[in-house]
Amino acid sequence: MKKLIVEVCVCNECVMKGAMDIIESIESLKKLKVQLRFNTQIQIEMNKCLGETKHGLQSPLIKVNGELIEKADSETVMAKVIGLASQDIKSI
Ligand code: FES
Repeated sequence: MKKLIVEVCVCNECVMKGAMDIIESIESLKKLKVQLRFNTQIQIEMNKCLGETKHGLQSPLIKVNGELIEKADSETVMAKVIGLASQDIKSI
């Protein structure tokens, strides 16, 4: 089974800018994956600060399989996850 790791920064700044909403969206996608026929395991990791110093303007920051998404929102992250889940990516 393919595996996607979604890292979400839960620093105050990212949380203030919607990081928790993004986590909720991914959690609902995990619940829907059977209906969507995803053969992909989605793992959410909450981390502290994924960025370089002085990156507050780019928050919230999310990494999907190591690829950084700046100024992330639910739509962008969901699109990325669905895109990767429907591709034939290597298992980690
Ligand atoms: S404050 Fe969230 S990535 Fe640094």
